[in-house]
Amino acid sequence: MSEPELRPKAEKLDAADELAGLRAQFVLDDTVYLDGNSLGALPRSVPGRVEDVVRRQWGSLRIRSWDESGWWTAPERIGDRIAPLVGAAAGQIVVGDSTSVNVFKAVVGAVRLAGGGTEGQPGGRQGPGGKQGPGGRDEILVDATTFPTDGYIAASAARLTGCTLRPVAPEEVPDALSERTAAVLLNHVDYRTGRLHDLPSLTAAIHAVGAVAIWDLCHSAGALPVGLDEHGVDLAVGCTYKYLNGGPGSPAYLYVREDLQPRFDSPLPGWNSHADPFGMTPDYTPAPGALRGRVGTPDILSMLALEAALEVWDDVPIEAVRAKSLALTDFFLECVEAYVPEGAVESLTPSAHAERGSQAALRCAGAGDVMRRLIARGVVGDFREPDVLRFGFTPLYVGFGDVERAARVLGEMF
Ligand SMILES: Cc1ncc(COP(=O)(O)O)c(C=O)c1O
Repeated sequence: MSEPELRPKAEKLDAADELAGLRAQFVLDDTVYLDGNSLGALPRSVPGRVEDVVRRQWGSLRIRSWDESGWWTAPERIGDRIAPLVGAAAGQIVVGDSTSVNVFKAVVGAVRLAGGGTEGQPGGRQGPGGKQGPGGRDEILVDATTFPTDGYIAASAARLTGCTLRPVAPEEVPDALSERTAAVLLNHVDYRTGRLHDLPSLTAAIHAVGAVAIWDLCHSAGALPVGLDEHGVDLAVGCTYKYLNGGPGSPAYLYVREDLQPRFDSPLPGWNSHADPFGMTPDYTPAPGALRGRVGTPDILSMLALEAALEVWDDVPIEAVRAKSLALTDFFLECVEAYVPEGAVESLTPSAHAERGSQAALRCAGAGDVMRRLIARGVVGDFREPDVLRFGFTPLYVGFGDVERAARVLGEMF
């Protein structure tokens, strides 16, 4: 197809798009914004809410807001708002800290749940789960293609728990698993290529050897159904500033499956996770439920900005978001093929829907420079080392006309 056919096709697809009206709930301009997989756009509901939180809740109510404005319970309340988007029942997610910090809680907590490592051994560190002798669970597997922070934190968690860290490509995890595996940390969608990994079958394989499965949902939550409960995931973490549009540095979240909560032993047992935080006792007793994933005083300003941002999701089924996301990436790849000279770019995005997240990744020579020129022309994606152009498609506010324009302008770069 060529431009005279692709433009009307985009118009037709936009006219039939049942989510098209949601764009009006965001502050956007005439830029084609394809970087929502890095920082989601600003929902219109956020500035007014932040103003109220600052002026009235903080400015007038002051300390009373911990109760009267629901500040104290915000981490679990907002966790329950995120829960349906990732297929979790209420009471299993708390919001707070960064993804990196939650990865730390999850990996150490997973090794303890598995009774792995050397924490409880003579000469090892004391920990309720750590009673494994020689030949026990002493390995943590980490996605070899992971976003770097997960790898760095998992390496530190491995040292602390007396485990060995083994980087493995997600598709090779089934062959790498053994009775020695304590925990496996995987990215649901690869941040560079946009590849979606098979969460149900990998989780089942991890469980088959008695290990604990941890998933990083940064690039999938808000873009596609995750099914945490349905697939029996043990622990999960994710950020809220990408497809959940929570704002720069908005707090992350931690999912701990309900039946594991009584045994979840956080390596960061701050006073907010105490059963009686205002008892101010010297001894630590963990709170019941997901609350034990909390650490210290929640970051109220960004947390309540996130809460306002999540209102966009009222009545939006994640399945409809997924259907539009796949249609957007399909159409983008079709337009790239039509507009970009042959051989100028190579798509890293899997063609099979079952293996595709909500982004397209194109490898090309001089990608950094190409992206700079694209941004100057009003098409905002991003560049990842060494040679990848990334385009993220947020179905809540990206339309098919945007997609056609982005690919057309990209074609003019060569
Ligand atoms: C898969 C993944 N994990 C973690 C992070 C970032 O972690 P943090 O929120 O701690 O900066 C990112 C950021 O892009 C990511 O893509």
